Amino acid sequence: MAEPATTHVPDLSKYRRDFPILERDLSGRQLIYLDSAATSLKPQAVIDAVTGFYTRYTSNIHRAVHALSEEATEAFEDARATVARFLNADIREVAFTRNATEALNVVSHSLRDRGPVVMPLSEHHSNLVPWRAGNSVVLKAMPDGQVDIEAARRTIAETKPALVAMSTVSNGLGITLPVAELTAAARDAGAMVLLDVSQSCGHEPVDVVELDCDFACFSGHKMLAPSGIGVLYQREGLEHSLEPLLIGGAMVHEVHVEDHTFRPFPWCMEAGTPNIEGAIGLAAACDYLDAIGLDVVQSHCRHLTSMVRAQLEALPQVDVHVSGPSASDSMVTFSSKSVAAHGVARMLSNRFGIMVRSGYHCAQPVYESCGIPESVRASVHLYNTAEEMDSLVEAVSVVSKMA
Ligand code: ALA
Repeated sequence: MAEPATTHVPDLSKYRRDFPILERDLSGRQLIYLDSAATSLKPQAVIDAVTGFYTRYTSNIHRAVHALSEEATEAFEDARATVARFLNADIREVAFTRNATEALNVVSHSLRDRGPVVMPLSEHHSNLVPWRAGNSVVLKAMPDGQVDIEAARRTIAETKPALVAMSTVSNGLGITLPVAELTAAARDAGAMVLLDVSQSCGHEPVDVVELDCDFACFSGHKMLAPSGIGVLYQREGLEHSLEPLLIGGAMVHEVHVEDHTFRPFPWCMEAGTPNIEGAIGLAAACDYLDAIGLDVVQSHCRHLTSMVRAQLEALPQVDVHVSGPSASDSMVTFSSKSVAAHGVARMLSNRFGIMVRSGYHCAQPVYESCGIPESVRASVHLYNTAEEMDSLVEAVSVVSKMA
């Protein structure tokens, strides 16, 4: 989203030293990491939290009564409480999953036969493809990939869906979705709401009560936490609770020769030994971000993104795909008029030490529908700087003239 002229831009440069990977030298070039929408870098606090589990209290949880197991169980459940606080949720509403994809598959497994499910075309594949087995209604995209709000309101009112499922920020083209408007339309039609907050969680405050959603999900690795840990939020008091996708140990309450009972949500979603150290690392990431302030992180990322977008738009050899109010605060997608996206990304990496993603970013349908070629995506987080944005623009300018 465009930055208001009077916004105070916070200086977050002192936090760069918390990210040891930024000291890495790439054949004499300093690393410039602009692929945080794919996965973020990890601060020392998160690395220490994970290492602490391995070096001091490795143990399984919810099973044994020995001291290490009790310590690990407490740390795991404390992590749930921290994540719940971070989202303004209750601990009974927060299940750990592997990632947002698993969470979306759990919801789709439980709800896709309950009625139509509406979602924007700009969604990540993981919020499009799992719904295809049921009755899914896809909201068409406008030429820049954004949802047409009036058309969406009409579709939702006419379809009377069981659920409207959307991301807060689409990773494909870098769009901020009109979540408040679509949620209001869903509520008017009596539908539940699922939000994939993977691209906003950790970049801006995410409050599930304020967002008025029934379900929310995200992957920890995009918000400074380890890979392999994600969250599925389910609002308490829903008429139909989600059903587990995986059945096994830990999620069962009692198992008899003929029958069994499951534990309640969230524990029924955590079959088998979960990613204990991942959950502990995720809680450390929440604490780290909270200490800086998510509104501060958001202002910083918004400033960098709007700055680089304006500079790229000024390059005659470059097409920037989304701008104006639809544009995301944390990423920009663009194409060179003369060099294919993967070629640009490879040259940025090899010659300038700049890491960006190229391709369709797991959102191919919106590219096809809008007639946009595979793009280069630069995505920022709190550790990026204005100087890095300048380096990117300079490098893109050089690379784009190379064809
Ligand atoms: N979904 C991730 C991305 O946007 C991997 O790059």
